[in-house]
Formats: sequence, structure tokens, C-alpha cells
Amino acid sequence: MTNTNHFLEIDDLTATELQTVLDRAETYKDAQQNGDDHADLAGQTLGMIFQKPSTRTRVSFETGMTQLGGHAVFLGEDDIQLGRGEPLKDTSRTLSRYVDAVMARVFKHDNIEVLAEYASVPIVNGLTDDAHPCQTLADLQTIREQEGGFEDVSAAWIGDGNNVAQSFTVGAALTDIDLTVATPAGYGIDDAVVERARDLGGDPTITTDPIEAVTDADIIYTDVWISMGQEDERDVRMTDFEGFQVCSDLLEHAPEASVMHCLPAHRGEEITDDVIESDHSVVFDQAENRLHAQKALLSWLLEA
Ligand code: CP
Ligand code: NVA
Repeated sequence: MTNTNHFLEIDDLTATELQTVLDRAETYKDAQQNGDDHADLAGQTLGMIFQKPSTRTRVSFETGMTQLGGHAVFLGEDDIQLGRGEPLKDTSRTLSRYVDAVMARVFKHDNIEVLAEYASVPIVNGLTDDAHPCQTLADLQTIREQEGGFEDVSAAWIGDGNNVAQSFTVGAALTDIDLTVATPAGYGIDDAVVERARDLGGDPTITTDPIEAVTDADIIYTDVWISMGQEDERDVRMTDFEGFQVCSDLLEHAPEASVMHCLPAHRGEEITDDVIESDHSVVFDQAENRLHAQKALLSWLLEA
């Protein structure tokens, strides 16, 4: 790990460390599919704080800890004293006395940084308003499976420059994926994220033209137009994102592309039902790979 033992951003891993985690994810996938024992975290416990809902993150972390011989504790915000105002820094120090690692899904990115600052065990970002690095791990595992590696892979992000887009942009830089990000004006990824990608050797192309972005791309990736916490912006966003739907017309410009979505999808908004159900779609491979990639991350963070 570069500076800390936490995983708050995808570039908390160096490019080499990322490859190591992805290799381990492949090993765990094989082990799980072959029924081989891999109880590398026997006796260890993961605390899981959720301030937002989740299907994939919750179930993949919890199942992953079970498969590794350990245990996970679900801590919904309203089930613990955090929901009644106990400070995050006290929650972090208390949990550190019980568990071996904490995964947290929070709103403000600052909050995961507070957890990390006060923790004496690894903190793993299970999604903030700004970043979703565990998703990126699974996405990169999926791309490697689809493309046989990262060399000469081109990807297009279409839609909102949100948390998933930002982590994917940095992950693409770490793996030399040639990325174009197409968003409506005003919905782009943060300039600081583009700078970070460039500092890592990436060169993401930024555009407002989805057709330019997808033309001959190997990977087309989209996510919801209204993320958790943005529900009040629905009306304006539905108008602003017109023309950014991943649909069969758009796919005519990239006939060989794999289509990715972190899920949950809002069919008929950012993606059509026929595309998500088509042979292009690898969305359930992504969902599955959350399990394998996070097991790899946890065992690596805990140095199993
Ligand atoms: N992709 C993802 O993080 O899904 P959940 O919100 O269901 O965890
Ligand atoms: N961008 C979405 C991702 C959900 C996994 C959100 O933050 O709601």
C-alpha cells in the first residue's frame, strides 16, 4: 500500500499492487468454483457500516468473509449509535477494538477519511458520493476476463461523471486502458480526478459526445443518472441526460463492445432493457466479480 493500510480510493493501490490483487481475485474465483478450501481469514471479522442501501456490496462482502472462514457484522446506520449522533471518530476507534477491518458506505467522502484517520484497522470504501473503488476492482477483473488483459483496450464511459465513473477513470489510468468519458456539460468527472489519472500516466479523453466516445470501443460503461442522495434532482437530470442512453442505436457504433453497468440499473433511463439483456452485457459478471475481487482485497489488506 502506498501510504496507509486503507483502501479509500483505487489508487491507494499502485499499478503493481492492483495487478497482485486482480491475480488473487482470479485465484479465489477458481478456488470457489472448484470447491477448494481457501479459509485465509479464519477467525477474522469485518465490520460493515451502511449509511445507504446496498444489495451487491453488502452480500458480496458478507459472503466473501464467510467463504474466507471469517465473519461479517452488518452495521446499518440506524442500528448503531452513529445514527443517534455518536461521532464517526468514536465509532471508528470503538470498532477498531473489536474487528479486523471495517468496510463503510457513506455519503460524504470526508466521512470515510475520518473513519480512516481514527481507525487502527484497515478501512475499505464501500462507496462514497465521490468514489467506488471496490466496484472498479470488479470492473477491471471483468475487463481482463473479457479482453484477455488490458493492452490496447479502449473503453467509453457514458452518462454521469459520478462516483463509479471517477474511480473507473483512475482505475483505467492504472491499467493503461484508453478511456473516453462522455457526459452532459456540467456533469463531468472532477478536474482533480482527471489530473490524478494524468499523474498516473493515463490520458482520458473528455467529451460531451456519446457517439464519439463509443465508436469502436471494446467496453461501454454506464451507471444511473440519479445516484443515491440525488433524488431531488430527478426532473432536471432526466432532461439533462437526454441523448446519453446506452441503447441499440448507440451500440451500432461499437458492434463488438461489451456493455458494463455496476447495477442497480434503471432500465429505460441510462440503459435499455434490450441492451442489458443482450449478449453484449457483462453486468452479472461484474456483480459476481465483486465477491472475488473484494475477497482478494481483504486478504491482501490483512496480509493473509
Ligand atoms: N454496485 C453496487 O455497489 O451495488 P449495491 O448498491 O447493490 O451495493
Ligand atoms: N452511482 C450510484 C452507484 C450505486 C452502486 C450511486 O451512488 O447511487
